Amino acid sequence: MKKVVVFSQIDQDVLERLQQNYQVVILNPKLGDINAQIRQEVIDADAMIGSGRLLNESNLAPAQQLKIISTVSVGYDNYDVNYLNQRKIWLSNTPHVLTETTADLAFSLLMSAARKIPQLDTWTKQGQWQKTISTEQFGVDIFGKTLGIIGLGHIGAAIARRGFYGFNMDILYHSRREKIEVAQSLNAQYRELDDLLQQSDFIVVAVDLNVESKQLIGAEQFDLMQKHAVFVNIARGSVVDEHALIKALQNNKIFAAGLDVYAKEPLQSSALFELPNIVTTPHIGSATAQTRKKMVQLAYQNLVDALENKTPRYLVNPNFK
Ligand code: 8YV
Repeated sequence: MKKVVVFSQIDQDVLERLQQNYQVVILNPKLGDINAQIRQEVIDADAMIGSGRLLNESNLAPAQQLKIISTVSVGYDNYDVNYLNQRKIWLSNTPHVLTETTADLAFSLLMSAARKIPQLDTWTKQGQWQKTISTEQFGVDIFGKTLGIIGLGHIGAAIARRGFYGFNMDILYHSRREKIEVAQSLNAQYRELDDLLQQSDFIVVAVDLNVESKQLIGAEQFDLMQKHAVFVNIARGSVVDEHALIKALQNNKIFAAGLDVYAKEPLQSSALFELPNIVTTPHIGSATAQTRKKMVQLAYQNLVDALENKTPRYLVNPNFK
């Protein structure tokens, strides 16, 4: 029987389907060092499935017959793809099924930060609404403004679509290369990064985390933004210099920010949480029951296909290159 290692919590139905056909080992952080467990269980594993864990040579080296790692995520910055290519281990992911859900969250953060929703929700519930509101409670307009998207991939395009069709916004975008077709459908204008940062009222980061995008947004970039700008990150925390963001918000260099991702996750305490002009969520981009179900089912199918010597639908490294 082929052996599957489950390295994070997954949907019960999918787990039971795996257990019907494979020897399934579920790693449990409560049982001791998780990397030691990985090194032990990966020796005779044929496949792994899960998300949110660092997998690289340090814990995969003992693997002797590992065919595929099926991640329940679209992002794969926590996997050493170069090492997997050397070992000819497939990495599959779950794109598309989470695009709209993640774009909804991005726009929710944008609107919440622009109109101070969480802060005013708390303020109202605390009984502080004693008289007519003052400018303190004022937010900034969204409709008809300029939305700058950094990374016009599927999720970036879905966010742009919400702005263009839903809020009559002008769309600017910056990405490694121009996306003519997608841009035309959204009347989106390509801009160099600095121009996008200077010309946008709302800036959303929707890039993959890689060597080029790591710390892409730092003090210099926040200095280019407009004073009334709202900054949103739904990609990966390390794309942004968090210290520079804290400074920009403390000094009101920008109006507000909305974050779903952080350099360190999970995050229990941070100077970010002390700021009055920030909205924070705990990496919930794809976190709806429907979408998480679709993600794990796709990850399951990718895994099964590989173990049946078929080519999985979504491979990050199809040719190990
Ligand atoms: C995942 C995500 O839930 O898909 C991604 O890349 O960031 C989320 O949808 C997260 O990666 C799980 O750790």
